[in-house]
Amino acid sequence: MPAQNGPSRVYLDHAATTPPDRRVVEAMLPLLREQWHNPSSIYVEAQTAYRVLEDARASIAHAIGAQSEEVIFTSGGSESDSLALRGVVDATAERGRHIVTTAGEHHAVLDTAEQLEREGVEVTVLGVDREGAVDPATVEAAVRDDTVLVSVMHANNEVGTVNDVAEIARRVHDRNPRTAVHTDAVQSAAHLGVNVDRLGVDLLTMTAHKLYGPRGAGALYVRAGTPLAAQILGGGQERDLRAGTENTAAIAGMAEAVRIGVERREADLGHDRALQRRLIDELPRRIPMVGITGPLDVDRRLPNSVSLVIGFVEGESILLALDLAGIAASSGSACTTGSVEPSHVLVAMGMPAELARGSLRLTAGRGNGEADIERLLDELPPIVERMRALSPIPATEPPDEWRPWLNGDV
Ligand SMILES: Cc1ncc(COP(=O)(O)O)c(C=O)c1O
Repeated sequence: MPAQNGPSRVYLDHAATTPPDRRVVEAMLPLLREQWHNPSSIYVEAQTAYRVLEDARASIAHAIGAQSEEVIFTSGGSESDSLALRGVVDATAERGRHIVTTAGEHHAVLDTAEQLEREGVEVTVLGVDREGAVDPATVEAAVRDDTVLVSVMHANNEVGTVNDVAEIARRVHDRNPRTAVHTDAVQSAAHLGVNVDRLGVDLLTMTAHKLYGPRGAGALYVRAGTPLAAQILGGGQERDLRAGTENTAAIAGMAEAVRIGVERREADLGHDRALQRRLIDELPRRIPMVGITGPLDVDRRLPNSVSLVIGFVEGESILLALDLAGIAASSGSACTTGSVEPSHVLVAMGMPAELARGSLRLTAGRGNGEADIERLLDELPPIVERMRALSPIPATEPPDEWRPWLNGDV
């Protein structure tokens, strides 16, 4: 795969977005150039576009263990999350007005839940543990007779923690078979090979641009029989559940990205894990007062994700210095970049806010090699040292409440 942004740049922000695979772009081009017709129209050209759309649906459904009719195309993860929450709540109003989610969710879920609360829905937001995971027994205990939906993310976008969604779904359904379970699989779909039956979920969110597909295409899996009310009204597209002329080029790109993802899963896993291992082992050795956040047990975290906090520095300043050194990374979630607030996920894990400001997320991908990781390992320690030397707060003794979060030479 070609290097991103020129040969001298290192891209370590695959959790923010991934470069579209060359084959994905090739799959999209005919739909932009020749087969651009509206798949809902009647003439022969439109029939071709319709077939492309339905082939993409069948192929994505197959990859996640679903039926074609259970896949609704959307514009991406945020829309799918919003449709899942609002759609179930609207369709079940006579049955109950209570939903359950967790403090570690992406803002696409959390902000939608907050808005629903303002509209009169009762929302229980469960805490996460110090690794960012939610306890299945806690989720079960929160489910009531009037709980219409539980939404728990599969893998966290900031710290890479993988929740035991299968166990959560089993317990929720045991407690109340009418409670729908939704999972945001935006980050996990590329890496873990999601299967809706193995996970036992009723709704599942995916987006193409985190799995080497294009921006602007996503899907919501909706298990047959799950009540869902459309949120975008107008045309009768997507079985009346999401109006709007489908973005056939992006959807075909998404289907190709999913296909390639399945084909490459084992190779990607081995590659990503090796780079992850090196970073997790080496960063605390090279930088004093640093802590890896999220699970250290790599079986419980996304294979490409390394997140850390660095005492006595601002994550944003580190990002700027890394950028100047030719390395693109992120501090916490890219979606909140620009805000000075510490990550809501780290704070929910119990980390002191001051320490959480020094967070950094490194997410490798197919285009990275060992040399990229070595470059990061060479560049980052002197940057941290420089930042600490410039800081008005002396970077000597970490406060006691930081200590449980820091490993390395504290
Ligand atoms: C876990 C999670 N959910 C939802 C989203 C939003 O997806 P999209 O950018 O496709 O709207 C993201 C994007 O970062 C994410 O990481």
